[in-house]
Amino acid sequence: MLTVAVYNLKGGVGKTSAAVNLAFLAARDGYRTILWDLDPQGGATYLLRGRPKVKGGARALIGKAGRLEQRIRGTEFDNLDLLPADRSYRAMDLVLDRTPHSTRRLGDQLRPLAGRYDLALLDCPPSASLVSQAALRAARLVLVPVIPATLSWRTLEQVMGLVRELKAPRPALLPFLSLVDRRRRLHREVAEELRAGLPSLARAAIPISSAVEQMGPRRSPMHAFAASTPAAHAYQDLWAEVRELSAPGHGATAASLPGG
Ligand SMILES: Nc1ncnc2c1ncn2[C@@H]1O[C@H](COP(=O)(O)OP(=O)(O)OP(=O)(O)O)[C@@H](O)[C@H]1O
Ligand SMILES: [Mg+2]
Repeated sequence: MLTVAVYNLKGGVGKTSAAVNLAFLAARDGYRTILWDLDPQGGATYLLRGRPKVKGGARALIGKAGRLEQRIRGTEFDNLDLLPADRSYRAMDLVLDRTPHSTRRLGDQLRPLAGRYDLALLDCPPSASLVSQAALRAARLVLVPVIPATLSWRTLEQVMGLVRELKAPRPALLPFLSLVDRRRRLHREVAEELRAGLPSLARAAIPISSAVEQMGPRRSPMHAFAASTPAAHAYQDLWAEVRELSAPGHGATAASLPGG
């Protein structure tokens, strides 16, 4: 099972939208997929029409392996299951903080699912919390949506710093441009700068698109209602890159920033 985290310390950069759309595309490709909504805000759970009702979810993280399995919910899509967010995830940091080897727990909990799923996607909250560290540690690949605006380098450097602090084996990073507005000069300039300075930047870039926004009111992955929009194609390209990077034998290497 390939574990992929979608992460950025920064909020509102398109993590949840990407996690839901990529999960949908993977499932449609025949990958048995589970999306774990680690954000107590429950955005992914909402979009996939899950009910964030399960009690004591944070404790399931540190309990006996196998407890997580009871929390899995199906979705209306074939091959796509959901581990819904839980309000108690707000307390997850406290729970993890009291647990030895806390950041290892998330991966421990995922391991029994390996026979059942080909892909686990982790939708992370926007923070450098223990939960996020645990998710980064469990992942083999970390997707980092980056809005091409003024502070994007800084944010990326912070994410790289967090990954560098992890014990080996560290996950590979795949930063990708998100919410790109080609009409804005700053976006075009920063996008070019990132492309030139960051060889690991994904080829796919997600444009700003009202179809992505519509996922909220429709409570649906975008490919279920707007499959032929440029943004939908961009997510498909991104999924193709993820598949490529995760193919056996592919030496997915950690991204490098200049001087990093
Ligand atoms: N490509 C896009 N075009 C237009 N709107 C977008 C796009 N991507 C995301 N959005 C909108 O931006 C908002 C934030 O997106 P999303 O929830 O995916 O980000 P996030 O990084 O998960 O946020 P948070 O940090 O709060 O979890 C949402 O309202 C979403 O509909
Ligand atoms: Mg989110």
